[in-house]
Amino acid sequence: MRARAFVGMSPTPDEQTLARTRERAHRRWVAGEAAEAAGLMHVVKVDGGYAAVANTLRRTIDTATGLVTVLGLAGVASDPTVRGSGFGKAAVLDAFARLGEEGLTHCLFQTGKARGFYERLGAALVTNRFVDRTADDIEANPWSDDWVMRYPADADWPDGVIDLNGPGY
Ligand SMILES: CC(C)(COP(=O)(O)OP(=O)(O)OC[C@H]1O[C@@H](n2cnc3c(N)ncnc32)[C@H](O)[C@@H]1OP(=O)(O)O)[C@@H](O)C(=O)NCCC(=O)NCCS
Repeated sequence: MRARAFVGMSPTPDEQTLARTRERAHRRWVAGEAAEAAGLMHVVKVDGGYAAVANTLRRTIDTATGLVTVLGLAGVASDPTVRGSGFGKAAVLDAFARLGEEGLTHCLFQTGKARGFYERLGAALVTNRFVDRTADDIEANPWSDDWVMRYPADADWPDGVIDLNGPGY
């Protein structure tokens, strides 16, 4: 789409111009992909400071029922001096609000100590075995935390092995 619009700026482009514009359009597309892979920050600001943050990204994983693009959640933290005030919850609910955007139906993430926090928000444990086809050891668990979770708990979720198709986040 972008490439067509860009090329269309010149009424009678020669081959060299077309090649240059295609190259520029391709670079812009790659830059857009990189920005999406880097993800979005969800911040809760109080008095000019960050009370809580969360990061979301899109990841396409391979499941027993086919490829699924999930919303990845990472980097969730609230300021230790204001924990228990609802700011962590606000940041994560803002992250979950991306569900529904461009076919995203599930959020998938890992956690160590905050399992109870996510369960209160409506997330559930995931018990599938995970692999990563991009790793040196494909069969090794790509996650590093104790628990993998998904949100919302009541959405259908496939059984079987899941290829995370990249490192844990
Ligand atoms: C986990 C964390 C983000 C929670 O942030 P917070 O601002 O204290 O959480 P909130 O005040 O929004 O809490 C929302 C609810 O979850 C509960 N809760 C908070 N932390 C919890 C935990 N570790 N286990 C169980 N429940 C928890 C709160 O009691 C509150 O319950 P309520 O809605 O019934 O009142 C924060 O403790 C933190 O930054 N921890 C260190 C980093 C971390 O573990 N991040 C998660 C990585 S996946």
